[in-house]
Amino acid sequence: MARFSALSSVRSVLLRSKSTALALLAAVGAVACATEPETHLGATADAVDSQVLPLNEELPVAQQAGEPALFERLGREINEIQQKKAEANGGVARGFHAKPHGCVLGQLQVLPNRAEETKFGVFKETKTFPAWIRLSNATSSRQSDRSPDLHGLAVKVLNVPGAKLFPGQETATTQDFLGITTDSLGTKDAESFMEFQKALNEGGGAMAAFTLWHAPLVFKLISAASRPIASMFNERYFSGVPFKLGPRATKFSFTPCAQLDRGDGSRNQSSKFLREDVVSTLESGTQCFNLSVQFQRDAAKQPVEDSSVSWDENEAPFVPVARLILPKQDMRSEEAVRKEGFCEGLVWNPWHSLEEHRPIGNANRARKIVMTAAQKYRGATQPPAEPTGTETF
Ligand code: HEM
Repeated sequence: MARFSALSSVRSVLLRSKSTALALLAAVGAVACATEPETHLGATADAVDSQVLPLNEELPVAQQAGEPALFERLGREINEIQQKKAEANGGVARGFHAKPHGCVLGQLQVLPNRAEETKFGVFKETKTFPAWIRLSNATSSRQSDRSPDLHGLAVKVLNVPGAKLFPGQETATTQDFLGITTDSLGTKDAESFMEFQKALNEGGGAMAAFTLWHAPLVFKLISAASRPIASMFNERYFSGVPFKLGPRATKFSFTPCAQLDRGDGSRNQSSKFLREDVVSTLESGTQCFNLSVQFQRDAAKQPVEDSSVSWDENEAPFVPVARLILPKQDMRSEEAVRKEGFCEGLVWNPWHSLEEHRPIGNANRARKIVMTAAQKYRGATQPPAEPTGTETF
């Protein structure tokens, strides 16, 4: 019964939303009594479900045995999505986050008064790093900014010494941090994440079937994506999945330093209003985000492997570590256009990382293979040519 009323609320939220959401709703309403099926990961996922891992640890390597073959398949599936969207996107684009709203050179300033427990990796010393910053939508389509969507913030910190984890890029001097506008991935693992993405792209019966088994998830993601946004600078971006910070498991988030007076975005008419807002906002002044981390405190309440679980901020509070600066600039100047072209050609992956920031958990292990497959498919050199910070424009 509780489940049925929750779904009724889904209906009322989604009825006020767009046509895609309505199609989803129809499926949700039709299957109010459905129960969650077994996951397809078989023994591995069952083992994770039935055990609480030790604090700060991910699934032991011995239990990850089936993953590489699975992730290769997910890589082929993202390529199919890229191909399917290529015509509408004007060529093969990023597998997700296909539409950029702005890509600029800024800075990551590590705070002088950060907590001792945060002093690892790029947060070890109080210093300022240059950083490339890409703001994006989240789907595989370069769709109108008025369409329901999540949004992304990709940060590539430069001049970071130390060995990196991505194979073939051990000597690169970059450290990537990626965020989206929800505080969990939504699905419990990478396989169900890709199932959801495929169903979204196929629509119709595929989406109805997915919704049949995952109604709460569909509700959460659709309501997050349906919330109108007015400015990329008013959004909070979360890692969603965990990373090591030295010996401990953490998640991170970028929070706007201040809220701009932009309304709720529902009245914006232009299909590119988010891009237009980035350009005009940076023309009038510098913008910033506070980067904070939350430490895992309870391995059951803040799991590493189950990427559907939000880590409650009241139980695992965020502590500040750095400030991300997007400087005032004229994005239409010739130099800025050249810089933006360079930035857009960069390749992000959470495995462009120091050991001190190691990505952990199933979804992160998948990203090493799946993001790379998408990047190869769209013609990025392999291993990607990482920026050195010495480029001139
Ligand atoms: C909560 C976890 C996640 C976050 C915060 C996240 C964030 C992002 C962001 C910000 C980008 C855009 C990077 C850019 O601007 O170039 C991106 C791209 C992408 N992500 Fe995720 N992502 C997450 C999980 C996943 C998972 C689980 C998969 C697949 C298993 C995945 C697959 C991809 C792919 C294929 C791309 C496009 C890569 C490219 O073509 O360059 N992501 N992600």
